[in-house]
Amino acid sequence: MKITSARFVISNTEVSKCPKPVLPEYAFIGRSNVGKSSLINMLAGIRNLAHTSAKPGKTRLINHFLINDKWYLADLPGYGYAKASKEQKLLFERFITEYLLTRRNLLCVFVLVDVRLPLQQIDREFFEWCAAKEIPFVIVFTKADKLGKTELNKQLNNYQNELLKSWEGMPRYFVTSAEKRAGREELLAFIGETNRIFKVL
Ligand code: GTP
Ligand code: MG
Repeated sequence: MKITSARFVISNTEVSKCPKPVLPEYAFIGRSNVGKSSLINMLAGIRNLAHTSAKPGKTRLINHFLINDKWYLADLPGYGYAKASKEQKLLFERFITEYLLTRRNLLCVFVLVDVRLPLQQIDREFFEWCAAKEIPFVIVFTKADKLGKTELNKQLNNYQNELLKSWEGMPRYFVTSAEKRAGREELLAFIGETNRIFKVL
């Protein structure tokens, strides 16, 4: 799929103020600093569309971006940011939970995980929560440029083995690098296919 336009629409913490749920939507979630905002910029092909930072905790709101005037990407704040206050964490949980459970046009959640790390407990819990709530998700490994090919494959294998200890199958996954623009075609093709399903709903 070709990206012909990408623009920021709105930021907020209230699901009721998100854009009308009439177009397909994909949400980016994952631990703080995993590369959610960078991946949105890479997919959109615009360097500073979503704000990124070397320090975790940059994205604090739900940010909607309209792509090709046809579908939305939603950038969410990271979870598991140790320095966030208890109050911030509760607020985050409340609005993200509400968003994920009620957003009718949300076709798939992209759960981003840093490819260099083993399966994290917080990610495992999030996958389990999505499955229990029947929220479709895929895993998106980020920062693949940080590993050599052999190491990358080893890491993916280990991750899969760990997940298969408690899951019957590996969820669909993508390997990406915002830095090298890797995985872009695959993710955009997946979005293209999934968009077609929305039309027939
Ligand atoms: P929060 O909004 O704080 O939750 O973070 P985020 O998940 O949106 O991460 P962000 O995109 O801001 O990126 C965090 C840091 O990781 C930045 O310093 C990015 O430059 C870096 N980063 C993101 N993606 C990649 C990647 O594919 N490769 C490399 N090498 N660095 C990356
Ligand atoms: Mg961010």
